[in-house]
Amino acid sequence: MKTVIICVAMLFVQLSTFAQSNNNPLPRIINKNGRHQLLVGGKPFLILGGQAHNSSAWPGMMPNVWAAIKQMHANTLEVPVYWEQIEAQQGKFDFSIVDTLLAQARVRQVRLVLLWFATWKNGSNHYMPQWMKLEAGKYPNIQNRDGKPIDSPSPHIEATLNADINAFTKLMGYLKKADPQHTVIMVQVENEPGSWDTVRDYSPLAQKLFDGQVPPELLKPELLKAMNVNAVTNGTWQKVFGDRADEYFQAWSIARFIGKVAAAGKAVYPLPLYVNAALRDPLTNPKASSYESGGPTDNVIPIWKIAAPAIDLLAPDIYLSGSEKVLKVLDLYDRPDNTLFVPEAGFNKENAKYIYDVIARGGIGFSPFGIDRNAEDPESAESKDRYVPYATSYALIKTMMLELAQWGFEGKIKAVVEHEDQADQTVDLGQWKATVTFGTGRGGTTKNTPPNGKAMIVKLSENSFVLIGTNCHIAFAPAGNQEGKAWQYLKVEEGKYQNGIFKPLRILNGDETDWKGPNFGDLPTVLQCTVITR
Ligand code: DGJ
Repeated sequence: MKTVIICVAMLFVQLSTFAQSNNNPLPRIINKNGRHQLLVGGKPFLILGGQAHNSSAWPGMMPNVWAAIKQMHANTLEVPVYWEQIEAQQGKFDFSIVDTLLAQARVRQVRLVLLWFATWKNGSNHYMPQWMKLEAGKYPNIQNRDGKPIDSPSPHIEATLNADINAFTKLMGYLKKADPQHTVIMVQVENEPGSWDTVRDYSPLAQKLFDGQVPPELLKPELLKAMNVNAVTNGTWQKVFGDRADEYFQAWSIARFIGKVAAAGKAVYPLPLYVNAALRDPLTNPKASSYESGGPTDNVIPIWKIAAPAIDLLAPDIYLSGSEKVLKVLDLYDRPDNTLFVPEAGFNKENAKYIYDVIARGGIGFSPFGIDRNAEDPESAESKDRYVPYATSYALIKTMMLELAQWGFEGKIKAVVEHEDQADQTVDLGQWKATVTFGTGRGGTTKNTPPNGKAMIVKLSENSFVLIGTNCHIAFAPAGNQEGKAWQYLKVEEGKYQNGIFKPLRILNGDETDWKGPNFGDLPTVLQCTVITR
């Protein structure tokens, strides 16, 4: 009898665990036909994010951060976890701040992306606990070509690696236990790893490794082809990679280290993991001495993919300006083998437009950096002004997030963002083309300052489209085998998505559609339109 009761009890526990994991599966990224989607609670999710300042994850600072998240209508907060805080004493872990973040996020129904500030933070060791900083011999930094010390940790040291693995697995283990709700949807491993002021470590230990053979993983023909070097079966770093050898060695060494930390954490709790990059100029293939070397810059993505397979994606931190550069960066990180996610972007009004491009590419989210304005009042006029383009975009996207995430995943969206020249842009939609004119007033006569126009055009069927935009007009014309035919709008409706259904508010006609097509003002609006030839 006793055995039967125990068996029934075990079955009940098993069934309820199954039910729980089935109802609330772990966040994960899926890939299909070279496109990607983040699933949270089993449903498509777009990270409409904001990142707190570096020193804002302390309970006393959080009210300002939450106020900013609210102002922005963000659904996700990116916030650091500091190694120096959780393991202030070696081997003793304090997750009270993580608890605070979890509880506060849940009350607000906001998700978290945690940033593991550990061995690397912007290339330095500044978030290592004091007990490590005080043992520089055991946890050394790197050296430049002249043997001078560089403010950047060595990726070649077992003691550092083991300490990081230990702390990171404790963090992931804690989340597994403390977060059955999956408030935390993703974790960033380290922060902008790499080295400034030297392309690689030139310490005797590193030099010995550099003079050795390139590991076989990097000699695969596909990798060598991707790196634009001749196929070989063996050789030293210098021989195989020539004048890029120093940088590739640094990238491999750092990526291997972080790959091991990520793999250990993932084995405990398999959340999606990513690494963010301090970018290099995306247009000119500059020398590694001009940017942070060894992080996942666009030119070493193939090395990172091989060295750190437990990392789900490599993500660009966008502080470059100008649409040509920004769009090129989005292109470089949107790859069949890499999910596009922008975890940091300069918190200015202009950058909000790129959210549209990220969504259209099937990217999983976007987040400006420093949303809490470092103790400035988020209610002040200056702060409010900066929040507006994010707040209005996020608020609208939230009403139709599932649809947008799904359309992006299926490749049904074309996005257009205004360039500095403010010129019209034409989008190919198969049997139709759409020309986007930027500006407001009749036909866009009043130019946008700054150039902040943006549009998404979703192709629902051959003749029907969802249009979302701000500060532009969208005009259709027959294309393909119906080029040159007469045409007209059959119906243009303005409305809102509610629970997956478009609810029209009014039919647009006359002045609202006659001047270079339906027009969009400062506030993003959603239109559904059908066009016909005649
Ligand atoms: C990029 C880093 O990843 C952030 O943590 C922060 O330092 C910003 N730069 C700018 O301040």
